Amino acid sequence: MREIAPELLAWYDRHARQLPWRVPPGQGRADPYRVWLSEIMLQQTTVAAVKAYYERFTTLWPGVGDLAAARDEQVMAEWAGLGYYARARNLLACARQVVASGGAFPATRAGLQALPGIGPYTSAAIAAIAYDQPETVVDGNVERVVARLFAVQTPLPAAKPELVKLAETLTPQQRPGDFAQAMMDLGATICTPRNPACAICPLVQKCDARAQGIAADLPRRAAKPAKPRREGVAWVVLSGERILLERRPPKGLLGGTLAFPSAGWDGTEAAPPVKADWQRLDPVNHVFTHFSLDMEVRVARIGEQLRTGSAQEWVDLNDFSPSDLPGLMRKVWKRAKTALP
Ligand code: ADE
Repeated sequence: MREIAPELLAWYDRHARQLPWRVPPGQGRADPYRVWLSEIMLQQTTVAAVKAYYERFTTLWPGVGDLAAARDEQVMAEWAGLGYYARARNLLACARQVVASGGAFPATRAGLQALPGIGPYTSAAIAAIAYDQPETVVDGNVERVVARLFAVQTPLPAAKPELVKLAETLTPQQRPGDFAQAMMDLGATICTPRNPACAICPLVQKCDARAQGIAADLPRRAAKPAKPRREGVAWVVLSGERILLERRPPKGLLGGTLAFPSAGWDGTEAAPPVKADWQRLDPVNHVFTHFSLDMEVRVARIGEQLRTGSAQEWVDLNDFSPSDLPGLMRKVWKRAKTALP
């Protein structure tokens, strides 16, 4: 067994990153609502990208009860641009479930994991950071740190269970929440993917990969298969001072978000939302987790405002804010604007 907590916590006491959702080292427990919100936002998204969203959400909704009472459309609009929109839908479902069962987040990992959108990673993070329970939190940063400490040669993703087991042997009984955040910070600032700063690492004496001179080569990764390509069409149509938008179905790609009518890329048939003299523009590209999309953009102006599908709505341009749209649809709008006089 290797003990790293004393060195790591001493380092964290001096070098912890100041983050909006964080309680400084040794200063007690963070608000579970804020820990939960930040951890959901930080899944698949960088700290830099999350900061502004986190500030905005906690200003609009300072507590779980405020968020639970929010309108779905407003939460989706505030989430727009963060990606992985199932997270936003689960966020609301989770807030409402917490409020329905008394308003407090459960204090155990099992209780947390029973809530919508909370998996093994997030339950461990909340239990450790908000409730100071000795749970082991393993994200991508921690995987890298552990793979190097123990010189694990198995490639990811197959190595995950082995890395979790090894990480569990490191978690201390004292200050597990600070320890979890210290592991993340070490991975983000010193034990970095390309050029680890081993010379200033508090764990340099305890690192097998460093001793073997292979730190920068770990963790190994199985070659990723190339992403398949998809094609689609998006229609941007103006009628006078109004623009046609639709609310996407709650489940599936960009579920629940506000969007331009589109087809072809999500299994739907390509048929324009209204009859018009469409101008075809070059496609915009957007990369999703499982495919890369080329979305052709078609634009038109029509004279009279025609009836539309039930999920569609003509929105006054003064009420239209591209920041309410997901990233793909912002790109579509940017391309469309080049052609709209
Ligand atoms: N990434 C995920 N959770 C984090 C946290 N609590 N602090 C810093 N980076 C993180």
